[in-house]
Amino acid sequence: MAAAPVSNPGLDLSWLNLDEWGARAEPGKRGLTLDDLITFGDAPVDANPAAKIGMRGAAPDPRSPRHRNQYRTKADVWSESARLLYEEAMQRQWASAVDIPWEEVKPLPDDLEMAMCTLCTFLTQVEFIAGDLPGRFMGTVHPDQFETQLFLGSQLMDEARHEDVFRKRALVNGGGLVDAGFGASNLLTADDFTEMTARLHLIGEGFVQTIFRMGELISTNEAEKRIYRLSAQDESRHLAFGVTHLKYLMDVEPARAEELHHYLDIQEGAIGQSNGSLTTNPATGEALAILAGGGLDKIDEGFQKLMIMRKKQINEYMHRLEVIGLSDRRDRMAPSMKMFLEPIV
Ligand SMILES: [Fe+2]
Ligand SMILES: [Fe+2]
Repeated sequence: MAAAPVSNPGLDLSWLNLDEWGARAEPGKRGLTLDDLITFGDAPVDANPAAKIGMRGAAPDPRSPRHRNQYRTKADVWSESARLLYEEAMQRQWASAVDIPWEEVKPLPDDLEMAMCTLCTFLTQVEFIAGDLPGRFMGTVHPDQFETQLFLGSQLMDEARHEDVFRKRALVNGGGLVDAGFGASNLLTADDFTEMTARLHLIGEGFVQTIFRMGELISTNEAEKRIYRLSAQDESRHLAFGVTHLKYLMDVEPARAEELHHYLDIQEGAIGQSNGSLTTNPATGEALAILAGGGLDKIDEGFQKLMIMRKKQINEYMHRLEVIGLSDRRDRMAPSMKMFLEPIV
């Protein structure tokens, strides 16, 4: 229905076009989510050739400047789970100031406190990088794929919280920030969205997830357990984003497989040097072993537990590669990781 003609010369009213009027999004069981809006316009498969700034579904404006988007296809930045993961992130935010029972942290023997502070210093740097890197890519996502940008925004919030919670734990019990080690700094060389996703989301965050799970097991009080449990819950979303982005890319642009292998070569090369310590930093590996064993005198026992986690870590990584469509990585994996792979049954 077109608007009634108006003769007042002081008005424009060219915007008052009711021809495409009538959208009525219906809330579902989980409220009015982004999934409930998708019938009003999904992300186009090809990138907007004009690459102008304009929101998907809205009328284009010829005055709009070009967006700095550097990507050509939807697959460059898309994840089929971005909408769902963003909504989940919005509903599961927590605040380290009030959601961690800090009073439960009790004095520990020096070896255990020093080990926990070493782990937390390492993690606070890892989390800084895990926020810094996606932050760089937020501005490269065109509004046609706005769900990806929303997800990245939620990830930045999660990583900010992780960065602060591990800093708080290091400072709350008589220890402090110590030697951070290398702390995943090499990830900052990633220069492409998919390179970031392969190296950070798939490998980096997959491996940090194992540390969080181990952290919960080796914690000595409810505050630490909750820190690791809640952080692991957030990390699962980041990991899922990475896996679903890479899977989408492999589904629609399988010719990019070698490019993905190249990214994995780089990151496995960095991780593979850790010799089973779960991290790129020897100090962190030793600290984890002290915590896992229950003291410096039981570090051997701790290393045995670490090796079990390492095996689990590598096999979970392989499983994710299979989901993505990169089963052939089994033969190409860095030798120091490949040795932990379970044979195919
Ligand atoms: Fe994180
Ligand atoms: Fe993360």
